[in-house]
Amino acid sequence: MKYPVPCLDRRTSIQEAIRTIERASFDRAFVVDPGGVYLGCVTISDLRRLLISGAHGGEPVDGYPLRHGQKLTAESREDPKLAERMMSDMELEGVRYLPVVDDGGRIADVLSLEDLERRHGLGPASAGDGPGRRVLVVGGAGYLGSVLTRKLLGRGFRVRVLDSFIYGRRSLEPLADEKNLEIVEGDLRHIPTMVGSLADVDAVVLLAAIVGDPASKIRPIETIETNVLAAQALASAARLQQVGRFLYASTCSVYGVGSALLDEEAPLHPVSLYARSKIESENIILGMGGEYFSPTVLRMGTLYGPSPRMRFDLVVNTMSMKSFVDGRIQVFGGSQWRPLLGVEDAAEVYARCLEADIGKVGNQVFNVGSDGQNYRIDEVAGIISGALGGIPIHRDRSNLDARDYRVSFAKLEETLGFRPGQTIAGAAGAIVSSLRSGAIRNPAQRIYYNHFFDSTEE
Ligand SMILES: NC(=O)c1ccc[n+]([C@@H]2O[C@H](COP(=O)([O-])OP(=O)(O)OC[C@H]3O[C@@H](n4cnc5c(N)ncnc54)[C@H](O)[C@@H]3O)[C@@H](O)[C@H]2O)c1
Repeated sequence: MKYPVPCLDRRTSIQEAIRTIERASFDRAFVVDPGGVYLGCVTISDLRRLLISGAHGGEPVDGYPLRHGQKLTAESREDPKLAERMMSDMELEGVRYLPVVDDGGRIADVLSLEDLERRHGLGPASAGDGPGRRVLVVGGAGYLGSVLTRKLLGRGFRVRVLDSFIYGRRSLEPLADEKNLEIVEGDLRHIPTMVGSLADVDAVVLLAAIVGDPASKIRPIETIETNVLAAQALASAARLQQVGRFLYASTCSVYGVGSALLDEEAPLHPVSLYARSKIESENIILGMGGEYFSPTVLRMGTLYGPSPRMRFDLVVNTMSMKSFVDGRIQVFGGSQWRPLLGVEDAAEVYARCLEADIGKVGNQVFNVGSDGQNYRIDEVAGIISGALGGIPIHRDRSNLDARDYRVSFAKLEETLGFRPGQTIAGAAGAIVSSLRSGAIRNPAQRIYYNHFFDSTEE
């Protein structure tokens, strides 16, 4: 067959069918009898709905009604009137492929909407941009989320964002006309909202959290509610519906301190509630993993660079902003190591994890960054100072941040071939340009800092 549309024997179990369709990155499969005769089709959403309405994952797919599923024969595919009618039905139903059956009703070929259009000079077919898997991005309005949402839309995904907009709505406002973006305003801790947001999704990316040591310190209860309990509830609800792909945003802060180059097996020494909350949910979510639920934990280095939801409480962004506003860079401590990563690069890793074979990335932990971007804070200041024309650096050797670690990112590079594209110098230049141009007018506004929660100033 020309297209790799999954084709299932009718005795295939519901859970196996979901996994097969997911692995093929389709939204449906053709179902045939043991003799290969075409019976109809099932969508992955139909199957997940069966699971939450009480069906057992081990039951065969044909224990429930199949979708009728249009088909063509060798003769009917040559009929332009029929082709036109089928194309309009396919477009309406979001179907891209049709089976062509032989005299015995067995699938002999598969035609796409574009094939039909070409064959009969009709069209243009409008559903030609892929099956458009739907990803739920929880926290999609945040610093990383607003970059990731744009990247996923650009890669042909349909995106549903669930966000309570702690830091305002501005980051997603320019996307108001995006037909593949759906925005749900709500709190992850609200169970009906959370469960509802999972409807018909193929993958989940969990970014929402109380983020950073200072923010968690100020809001310990909310940190436990959001970072641990709501994360657990979301993973559990996803698993029940066999949404197998679940990317969990964790942090290299879980390592806390360490002298060697730390890989994913290294011992964890959290030095804050924030890091402990992330370890707790990593353990819970990974513990739920198995054959049909394959979470991926992404431990990111400290991010940097411009984002539609800007943060000035991250080391590179702070130093770049201070260079422009104060004409100097203040360094506290300086000898401590920290792995850094551009926010666009981080979003690229998430996109690749969603596109990768789930067997390669599921049920695993990855450090997310690159070996070449482990820096001492002193070095970071030097790079930014140099990039911005020699801004003076003031050093205060007292250091309130106990984190000090270097991380190995070899596993990520080996598995996904990831190499960073962003640099600290490039990001510093871009941040200063956005301040100089007035795109960001007042970087002192509380909205740019996670340890303030007042979004009323913008
Ligand atoms: N930024 C970094 O340097 C960094 C580094 C390592 C890991 N991470 C992790 O990446 C993720 C994203 O970080 P970020 O920098 O984009 O943070 P952010 O604070 O900018 O974004 C978090 C988003 O989640 C939303 N949110 C928070 N609580 C919510 C709730 N209960 N319900 C719905 N939405 C809620 C917020 O409104 C916000 O839009 C976090 O999980 C963080 O721990 C970030």
